[in-house]
Amino acid sequence: MAETKLSMKDKRWSLHGMTALVTGGTRGIGHAIVEELAEFGATVHICARNQDDINKCLKEWKNKGLNVTGSECDLQCSDQRKKLMEDVCSIFHGKLNILVNNAATNITKEIVDYSAEDVSTIMGTNFESVYHLSQLAHPLLKESGYGSIVFISSIAGLRAVPVFSVYAASKRAMNQFTKNLALEWAKDNIRANAVAPGPVKTKLLESIMNSSGGDDSINGAVSRTLVGRMGEPKEISSLVAFLCLPAASYITGQVICADGGFTS
Ligand SMILES: NC(=O)c1ccc[n+]([C@@H]2O[C@H](COP(=O)([O-])OP(=O)(O)OC[C@H]3O[C@@H](n4cnc5c(N)ncnc54)[C@H](OP(=O)(O)O)[C@@H]3O)[C@@H](O)[C@H]2O)c1
Repeated sequence: MAETKLSMKDKRWSLHGMTALVTGGTRGIGHAIVEELAEFGATVHICARNQDDINKCLKEWKNKGLNVTGSECDLQCSDQRKKLMEDVCSIFHGKLNILVNNAATNITKEIVDYSAEDVSTIMGTNFESVYHLSQLAHPLLKESGYGSIVFISSIAGLRAVPVFSVYAASKRAMNQFTKNLALEWAKDNIRANAVAPGPVKTKLLESIMNSSGGDDSINGAVSRTLVGRMGEPKEISSLVAFLCLPAASYITGQVICADGGFTS
C-alpha cells in the first residue's frame, strides 16, 4: 500500500518518459531549463543558431549523464522552424510533451530611435517565431496525450521599463497568446503558461547593460526588487520545470513572475 502511494507521488513529481523541446538552450535561462528538465527525467532537444555552442553543451550534458540532443536553427526563418520540428518529430517518434519557447532578443533604444528593421527583428524573434513554432508543435503535443507549453516572458511585458518598448510589446503579446492558446488547446490536453523573469544574470542582460541607457534601466529594475539583487538562471528554471510536472496539472493560462518581488 505504502509502495503504491509512493510511486503515485513520484509520478506527480517526475518527467520520466517525457520529451521536451527548449529553444535557445545553449546559454543563460534556456541552458538552466534544459538541465532542470533533464534532471527531472525528460529527454530534451535544443536549438540555437551557433552549432559550436550546441556541440559544446551536448558534450557537457552527456558527461553529466543527461539525455539531450540538438540542432542548429534560426527561429526567425520559417524553413528552419519547419526543419526543426521535423527533426523533433523524427527523434521523439511524433510525440512532444513539453515546448519551452525561451529564445529571444532585445535591442534597447528610445522609442523615437527604433528603425522598422529593429522592430521586425524583435517582434519576429520574440513573438512571430514563437507563434508559428507553437502551431508546428501542436500535432506532436496533442499526440503525446499530455502537453505543456511554457513561454519565457518578462516583467517588461507587465511594467514599463525604460528603453525596452518593442521588447515589452513582444512579451505582452506573448502573455495574451498564452491565454488564448490555453483556451483553445485545453481540449487537446495541452496546458500553456508564461513565466515572467525579472533581471537575471545572462549574456543577454550583460549586452543590455553595455548598451546606451541599458545600464540605468537594469539597475533601476534591480532596485525595484524586494530582494535587492538580480536572479540566477536556476531561480527561473525551477518554476519552468514545476509548470511542466503532472503536479501542476490544474495550472494553465497563467503568467507567473519570478522577479524577486519586482511586480509585488
Ligand atoms: N536575462 C534576463 O534578465 C531576462 C529577463 C526577463 C526575461 N528574459 C527572457 O529569458 C529568455 C532567455 O534569455 P537569456 O537572458 O537567457 O538570453 P541569452 O543568454 O542571450 O540566451 C539566448 C539563447 O537563445 C538563442 N537564440 C537567440 N536568438 C535565436 C534565434 N533567432 N534562433 C534560435 N536561437 C536563438 C541563443 O543562442 P544563439 O545566439 O546561438 O542563437 C541562446 O541560446 C528570453 O526569452 C528573454 O527574453 C531574460
